[in-house]
Amino acid sequence: MKMIAFNGSPAGKDSATNRIIEAFLSGAERAGAQTENYQLCDYAISQCRGCFACWFQSPGVCVMQDDMKQLLRAYQSADVVCFGSPVYSWNVTALLKNFVDRLIPLKSPLITESSGNFDMADAKQRVQRYVAIANCGFPGENNFSIIKAAFSCCNPALEIYRNCGKLLKSKQPSVQTVVGEYLQAVETAGYEMAATGQVCEETKQRMSMPLMSVQDYVKFLGM
Ligand SMILES: Cc1cc2nc3c(=O)[nH]c(=O)nc-3n(C[C@H](O)[C@H](O)[C@H](O)COP(=O)(O)O)c2cc1C
Repeated sequence: MKMIAFNGSPAGKDSATNRIIEAFLSGAERAGAQTENYQLCDYAISQCRGCFACWFQSPGVCVMQDDMKQLLRAYQSADVVCFGSPVYSWNVTALLKNFVDRLIPLKSPLITESSGNFDMADAKQRVQRYVAIANCGFPGENNFSIIKAAFSCCNPALEIYRNCGKLLKSKQPSVQTVVGEYLQAVETAGYEMAATGQVCEETKQRMSMPLMSVQDYVKFLGM
């Protein structure tokens, strides 16, 4: 089983998003999965031009010569794809959105319909599963509303949304203790996903643990 993460944080491997991804992948590895973790900010990914040459002239192949060739190969080799992003202006980052746009060579110009919902068909039938991973700077859940709607399009097998994300990179020992407990729950989720294909309710509950009270977090941020 191969699990591959694509991190859309411009902070790359030092990002809070990557802390969550690394914990998740390490759990998957413990269950025997092969893992890869791509920091999208380290790759040259031009914007989709919308020419549809990848559908009508050279099916499956984009006309642009950039790092998407390598990333598309990796993407296609995954059994489980993890999309990671911080919340930027209520949404995923432009980096992750751009990457997802550039996956269009894997689609075909055929419309599918299910219960009144229309979409593009996959060029080749795939049985990939998806995991959505995001963190945001504010407390509460409302800053994830748009990301949740966007990720719902790929019907994710698991969604990990971490608020108070600034704490993930804190060097304060008391904060690191609670963050460590949280990341342990994420590691367990990665293990379960790789071992059984799903994550139990208890682990999901552990991942939704508050890291700090709103009042203390506001003080922590100095806002
Ligand atoms: C341009 C920009 C926009 C942001 N927009 C939001 C937002 O809408 N809601 C929010 O909760 N946090 C927002 N944040 C805060 C980030 O989500 C937060 O700092 C996060 O922990 C960064 O994660 P990373 O280290 O993985 O990049 C924004 C940060 C930046 C730089």
